[in-house]
Amino acid sequence: MLKLNVVILAAGAGKRMQSLIPKVMHKLGGIPLLMHVINTARQLKPDRICIVIGHGGELVRQSIVDTDLVWAIQEHQLGTGHAVMQAQSYLDKEGLTLILYGDVPLVSLDTLQRLIAATQEKRCALLSAFVEDPSGYGRIVRDPETKAITAIVEQKDATLDQQNICEINTGIMLIPNVFLHQWLPKIENNNVQCEYYLTDIIAMAVKEGILVDSKQPDYYWEVMGVNNKRQLAELERVFQLERANKLMERGVYLTDPARIDIRGELICGLEVEIDINCVFEGIVNLHNNVQIGPNCILRNVIVGEGTIIAPYSLIEDAKIGAKCRIGPYARIRPGTILFEEVHIGNFVEVKNSRIAPRSKANHLSYVGDSIIGENVNIGAGTITCNYDGANKHQTIIEDDVFVGSDTQLVAPIKISKGSTIGAGSTITKDTPEGALTLSRTRQVSYFEWKRPTKTKS
Ligand code: UD1
Ligand code: CA
Repeated sequence: MLKLNVVILAAGAGKRMQSLIPKVMHKLGGIPLLMHVINTARQLKPDRICIVIGHGGELVRQSIVDTDLVWAIQEHQLGTGHAVMQAQSYLDKEGLTLILYGDVPLVSLDTLQRLIAATQEKRCALLSAFVEDPSGYGRIVRDPETKAITAIVEQKDATLDQQNICEINTGIMLIPNVFLHQWLPKIENNNVQCEYYLTDIIAMAVKEGILVDSKQPDYYWEVMGVNNKRQLAELERVFQLERANKLMERGVYLTDPARIDIRGELICGLEVEIDINCVFEGIVNLHNNVQIGPNCILRNVIVGEGTIIAPYSLIEDAKIGAKCRIGPYARIRPGTILFEEVHIGNFVEVKNSRIAPRSKANHLSYVGDSIIGENVNIGAGTITCNYDGANKHQTIIEDDVFVGSDTQLVAPIKISKGSTIGAGSTITKDTPEGALTLSRTRQVSYFEWKRPTKTKS
């Protein structure tokens, strides 16, 4: 195996993004553009990955965790050739260098592997594409007879004939290091844009009799770049549709593959159904027979077999057991663990709580910092008062408790096994097992009382 170096160009200003943050830090599927490229590059197991940064470079570098990356700085963006020159000192003497672009995020591992396979110690290879509208791109010029690549000409430098060429340079190329070290210093900027074009090395290769091979990507979107927010949004949809298609191939029912957003990893069992407009973030694992209603958001969640998440539910950093019923309009916050057959209904918020099998909070409740036993019924409008203004306290509700509606449980507190709380109570002390506990003033009626009437002014 030849040594492999990867250079990722990410120094461009990205002016057309009209943004305060560097272009390559914009997110696609929840991950910065540059991270997509780094992740794919890492899968090639290269000996070194060098990222050329410039515009907003410090921000880029700080936000990427690296132990395996080297960073080269390009102070002024004088062209792609100049950018690679900044990385030259990090490149091995021998082996190959793969050039990738930080703003072309979806190039696939498979395509890059094919490109690498086409390259040898004494042969270059580039990734080209045939497009309907080549405007803006560098054109691949081929010998009319042999069809061998002879040069890449930038749009602005192209003759009218060359402008009609529909084979474009994607920018991704593989060059043997021995040649790269020879050719980089020879690149000049005597062109329309006064830039140092990396693409000029192709003509140098041809001049020295070095063969330049070419490969094409399997999918057009692999080489789509991001230059503005419109293209970013377009590529996001392409990316999401690809993920949706993969899910369907693995058996997931998607009501509409165009209306799902996965910003992380979504792992699904069999017979999983996902309705429209759901967003999945972080790592979400849906076991067999899970159903997710429309407009749900799940972030870092495990959902057990046969559970139904009804519409408009938001669930974060939680574990939901099997055969649960959640929502509609449920909010489950970090640190929540629900066991089997738990029901969390509409407008119920659960935070940092464990709820044992078959317990229910079906309507309008807040359950925070609580440990709840089995077969507990939490009546509508029940609130665990977990915060005293300074500290958070725990509520313990043991098995078979029935909490009447509109109850406040002032923590720290323990509601003992089998006890019943009368509706409308404010409970401030632990309750005894099996008893009915309530705290209300006695109901009275005043017959002499009159409703106020509006005074005339
Ligand atoms: C380049 C290619 C062109 C190809 C096109 C594909 C050259 C001369 N031209 O053109 O043949 O069709 O990409 O999109 O290579 N960058 C730097 N430093 C610089 C300039 C650019 O790091 O000084 C980075 C950019 O951040 C970007 C990439 O290189 O990731 C490409 O730069 P860009 O300006 O978009 O290249 P084009 O002129 O479009
Ligand atoms: Ca470009």
